[in-house]
Order: sequence, then C-alpha cells, then structure tokens
Amino acid sequence: MKVTFVADKPASSGCAVIPVKKSLKTAGAASDYVGESNGQFKKAAKAANFNGEKGKSFSIFAPAGSEASRLVAVGIGDGKEFDSELFGAKIAKSLMMGESAITLHLGGMDVSPDAAARAAVGMRLAAYRFDKYRTKLPANKKPVLKTIKIACDEPAKARASYNKYHGPVCDGTVLARDLVNEPPNVIYPKAYAARIKELETLGLKVQILGEKRMKSLGMNSLLCVGQGSVRESQMVIITWNGGKKGDKPACIVGKGVTFDTGGISLKPGANMWDMKGDMGGSAAVVGAMAGLAARKAKANVVGIVGLVENMPDGNAVLPGDIITSMSGQTIEVQNTDAEGRLVLADCLHYASTKIKPKAMINLATLTGAILVALGTERAGVFSNNDKLAGQIANASETTKEKTWRLPIGPEYDRLLDSPNADMKNIGGRLAGSITAAQFLQRFVGKGIPWAHIDVAGTAMKPSNRHDPRETTFGTGFGARLLNRWIADNFEG
Ligand code: BES
Ligand code: MN
Ligand code: ZN
Repeated sequence: MKVTFVADKPASSGCAVIPVKKSLKTAGAASDYVGESNGQFKKAAKAANFNGEKGKSFSIFAPAGSEASRLVAVGIGDGKEFDSELFGAKIAKSLMMGESAITLHLGGMDVSPDAAARAAVGMRLAAYRFDKYRTKLPANKKPVLKTIKIACDEPAKARASYNKYHGPVCDGTVLARDLVNEPPNVIYPKAYAARIKELETLGLKVQILGEKRMKSLGMNSLLCVGQGSVRESQMVIITWNGGKKGDKPACIVGKGVTFDTGGISLKPGANMWDMKGDMGGSAAVVGAMAGLAARKAKANVVGIVGLVENMPDGNAVLPGDIITSMSGQTIEVQNTDAEGRLVLADCLHYASTKIKPKAMINLATLTGAILVALGTERAGVFSNNDKLAGQIANASETTKEKTWRLPIGPEYDRLLDSPNADMKNIGGRLAGSITAAQFLQRFVGKGIPWAHIDVAGTAMKPSNRHDPRETTFGTGFGARLLNRWIADNFEG
C-alpha cells in the first residue's frame, strides 16, 4: 500500500472522500468540491436523503467541475469525537473492492498531524487480507486499493508522524497478523524462529536457543510442553539497542505455542483449529520488536518468545509428572492443556536472571476463562506494580487496544499449592485467569515490575467481528500497545 500526505486541495484523479457534518456542513477542500459542483452535490444529497448523519454516505460519479472520478460524501454528525482511524477504516472497508486510489480529505477540521497519520493506519488495517493460500478467489473478491492519499492541513507533519511512528508500528501489526494467520504446518517452532531471524535486516539481534541449549540451562518446564512433538522447541531472544549504552532494557515476553492440542489432556475436536493462534502473544512481541527497530526507537528492549508445539504422544508429558523448572521450583503437571504457563515460567525466569529488565510485560493467549470474563473486547491485565499497570492503561487508551485490570494476591496464589511438588499447574475451576497469572508471578524475579496480559480473547477473533480494522482471525493485538508503552515510558 502506497501512503502519501498531500495538501488539502481537490484531487486530480481517483476517488475523493469528503467528511460532511450535519446540515451538509463541510470544510477545506470538501467545500471546494461542493462549491464547484454547481448545486449537483446538494441535489444528490437530497435524493439520497443524506444530511451528514454519522455513518451515512452517498456518492456522485465524476462531479462536474472536479477532476476526481468519483466523490464520496461521508457523514460525521456533529463532528465531535471524530476518530480519524476508525473513519479511515470504514472508508477503506467500503471502497477497497472498487477503488484503486483514494484521497481522504481531512483539511479544515482540526485533525492533528498525528490523527491524520492514524487515518492512514485505519485504512491499512481495514484493507489487510490473508489470501495467500486462496488460489481460486474471484477477482471481484480481491481488494484493488493500492494508493492512499491523506489530504490534510499540515501534510509535512503528518508525513513525519507516519514515517517515524505510525507506519512502522502498523507494519509490525501486519507482521503479527500474518504470523497468527499462517497455518501450523508453516509456522512451527523452527520455521517461526527462522522467520524471526530474518528481522535482523531491520537491525535487530536475534539469538535462537534449541532444545540442547535449553536442556543445559535447565528449562524443563518449557521443554516438557514440546516433548510430545516431533518439532523441536525453540526460544528466541530478540534485542534492540536503540537507547543509551548500559541502560537497563525493558523486556517483552510472548507465549508462542504454535499449536495447542492440549496434549494428553486433549482438547475437544470442535474449533480446535483455532489453536494455531495460540502463538498470538509471541506474534505481538515479534511485531512490536519489528516496529521498534523500523522506527529506530530510542530505547533498549529485549523480546523473548518461547516456541513449542503441544502434542499428545507416547513421549508426551503426563498428567501427574513432576518437572523441575529453570528456577529450581518443581511443578506437578496436573493438566497438560495448561501449557502456556509452563512455557512462560522458564521464559520469565530467564528474563529475570539473564536480562534483569527494569520492567517486564508478557503477553499470552493463556486462558479460556479470560473470554468468559471480558469477551473479545478487552485483554486482561495482571500486575505486581500499580505504576506499570497505569502505563499499560494509558497505552491501551491511546492505541484503542483495550485492556482491563484484574486482581492478583496471596489468597489466589494458595490455590496452586500441591502436596506433591512446589506447585501444580492448575488452580481449579474458579478464577482461572487469575490463578494462571499467579503461576506466572512465581517465576518473576523479586523487585521487577511485571505485568501479564491475557490476550486469549483479543489476539484471535471470531468471524462476527464489528471493528472494521480487524479483518482476519489474527488481529495483531498487542504490537501497537507495546510500541506505545515503550515510546511513552522509555524513549525520554
Ligand atoms: N491456549 C489455551 C487458552 C485459550 C483458550 C486460548 C481459548 C484461546 C482461546 C490454553 O493453553 C489452555 O488450554 N488453557 C486452559 C487452562 C486450563 C486447563 C486450566 C483453559 O483455558 O481451558
Ligand atoms: Mn492449552
Ligand atoms: Zn495454550
């Protein structure tokens, strides 16, 4: 997709989109179109029973006096709470099948350069498709949109905002979506690690640990999850040093179960294919790291992803097995389907002891229970630190990747006690998302501000989605949130 920012003048070709307020009020170039149309606009609006109501639209083909091939008027009501990103997304969604070039006019309506840049992001996210394996898709089902022009008041500033921040961050979200959408026979641990290795071209350092290396480090908790799979488990450490030398890094950690059958505690068959998305947390981390590097973020950040495939097999970990994690703590694996926490346990301990971050956030499609609690609208946040939780709430507010904080505490932690080992990996029927968070917290180093974001409801979405920015199963949720968190708190 080609994205440019231009001065707000009537377009010389293609499809022009103009926002129209109630009573047909317009501003900037939109007013020029209306003026030049010799009353044609008002007549057409009347015929379409359009008065600038929010969400309504109508179009005129080749309006007299303008060089655009088509003019689309989109109602924005009273114009208050105008969300440029959502506006761009809705426009791309409705026009991308028929228009190859769209000029979106946002002049004269108090849209900041940042908001103008985000209009382009909304359009890109709404135009995202994952059609690479569809060989028989008819031409009229393929988007033809190739060029986006944002016509605004301060195009140079908007362009700078897009090139320096929103564009590369959006690239990261697209990467995260691609990774989640890819099938499990394409994105399995080694193939996934190889894909991450390719990101070194962006200036990232990528270190891959195989099973041998992890064994010698004592990562039996992560390894036991992949032990029933013929595919070798991997841990990938991605480093971006854009900050001051010697400055302690922030750390982001992701669950990368490339397929979760449940293992011996096998999941039911219906919808099991969804579990190709059980690496959504790691995809957000990888997408975020790519975004940080592409925009040359002035911060030191380490991304860690644990990549495994959870399979039933003669060699698989059994319910009842007791394993010793890298931290030395022993775990009774009562349910092999509670595998994400086993993977993250060693990742979090590795991060705590080897990276010693100043703050650490992990993302994981960890529990079905978070869907019961929050649905697919918000991810659950669990944290040992109010300041960090506040930072996440702020980043969440600006990126519209919505979250909600839930409690943790010793009274929940007790539910993990086991008579046979230091802990068991399930807490029982109640408070399932919280006990999962308690489990993770046991592997976080003392004094490290930490948060766990359960993205089981937001990283993969059902087909009845309503947000025009989310077009496929993989949403890329988290990549933008993490970039915002770093930008707001670590880039001075
Ligand atoms: N990957 C699943 C969680 C999940 C469920 C993600 C639905 C997305 C959609 C996780 O590994 C899992 O199986 N969790 C179990 C935990 C239970 C055994 C304590 C769950 O939620 O049922
Ligand atoms: Mn599971
Ligand atoms: Zn899982």
